Amino acid sequence: MEHGSQTKLSLDKKKIGILLFEGIHASAVDAFRADGYTNITRHEKSLPEAQLLEAVRAASVIGIRSATHLTRRVLEQAQGAIAVGCFCIGTNQVDLGAAEEFGIPVFNAPFSNTRSVAELVLAEIIFLMRGVPFLNAATHRGEWIKSAMGSFEVRGKRLGIVGYGHIGTQVGLLAEAVGMQVVYHDIETKLALGNGQPAESLGALLESSDVVTLHVPETPATRNMIGAAEIARMKRGARLINASRGTVVDLDALAEALKSKQLSGAALDVFPVEPKTAGERFDSPFSGMDNVLLTPHVAGNTEEAQKNIGTEVAGKLIRFSNNGSTLGAVNFPEVSLPEHTGKRRLLHIHYNQPGVLSAINAIFPAHNINIASQYLETSAKIGYVVTDVETSDSALVTRLRDQLAAVAGTIRTRILH
Ligand SMILES: NC(=O)c1ccc[n+]([C@@H]2O[C@H](COP(=O)([O-])OP(=O)(O)OC[C@H]3O[C@@H](n4cnc5c(N)ncnc54)[C@H](O)[C@@H]3O)[C@@H](O)[C@H]2O)c1
Repeated sequence: MEHGSQTKLSLDKKKIGILLFEGIHASAVDAFRADGYTNITRHEKSLPEAQLLEAVRAASVIGIRSATHLTRRVLEQAQGAIAVGCFCIGTNQVDLGAAEEFGIPVFNAPFSNTRSVAELVLAEIIFLMRGVPFLNAATHRGEWIKSAMGSFEVRGKRLGIVGYGHIGTQVGLLAEAVGMQVVYHDIETKLALGNGQPAESLGALLESSDVVTLHVPETPATRNMIGAAEIARMKRGARLINASRGTVVDLDALAEALKSKQLSGAALDVFPVEPKTAGERFDSPFSGMDNVLLTPHVAGNTEEAQKNIGTEVAGKLIRFSNNGSTLGAVNFPEVSLPEHTGKRRLLHIHYNQPGVLSAINAIFPAHNINIASQYLETSAKIGYVVTDVETSDSALVTRLRDQLAAVAGTIRTRILH
């Protein structure tokens, strides 16, 4: 079954079916309910494909986390879906191209866990400066190493932040609060927050920092960005933290540097290859190294982050459902729309092909209708036109919507009252 050209009336909020999988946080449900959406079905887990295909048929809004795969086949069944919310960071589990073709925007929460990561990194900075990973391991073994050697306060020490984005800037502010000097390196020109200073270059940052922390995305340029040559440039005895992406650090080079005492400690939360399930074994070149703090990609995993994700994604879905705004959609032309009080809003999603806009705009004057405002945004594949009209004649708006739906290239239309 294909998503044909679809027309949708603005539904009563109570009738908009919201289908949530994988134990999405109660904050999402609270946000939907507070806005008047009460038709909510929750599943604690993802469903096997056969059941999923059945379940999505009646849904208007589908909320998932990472274990539910919204393939083209599943999306084809979701004939009534107006939007998908990924209540997580990644969106690889959704066929974004298919969703775009079907006129379904997909939303996620890329920055809800920023603070969680930044707090863990701050703790790691302090632990590494004090040698806590080593002391903890030794004490567990029954050793009593009561010494100040190699144990330092963080006050006055220099923190080098590579990647001064959402997380990098927060780490900088937290580190300054405990008296550290912050330098950062980014490929973009970034406004310094607090007393942070841009480093002249990555090399200059590496050479001068007591602790280096990485907060870059995974790109061809960041693959093995910190390898043997970069580690050799670091201050002898410095510490390295990676809670960004596993591919950014050459693990073998890091293990060598820790053995040779070029670096005195490291904290790693992400790895080039990570187990996909809890039962799968994790191996790394750091087994048995007491001065390395290893965590299983949990820097962003906190109760608060889950709660924030619930509120953020539900908020984006509610905005889209109520007023058509697609700000934050990962596969869709983004428009941030004002309220349309006293007007009727017509949404038109179409293939990005010549002639659609002029065909749309020929419809309104033919009915002597005044366009109050109009918004257009396109991607390579699709276009999204939002038109506010000044009329209270519901029958006329329905006729307009039907004519819009008949325009060649239309994917779907919707009226918002
Ligand atoms: N461990 C976890 O649980 C966890 C949680 C959230 C995010 N992350 C990861 O943390 C990283 C940072 O996330 P964010 O939200 O701060 O991202 P962001 O996009 O806000 O910031 C990334 C920064 O890196 C800069 N950058 C990109 N390429 C660079 C390069 N080659 N050299 C220097 N700077 C470069 C960008 O300009 C940007 O300022 C991402 O890789 C993200 O996947 C990990």
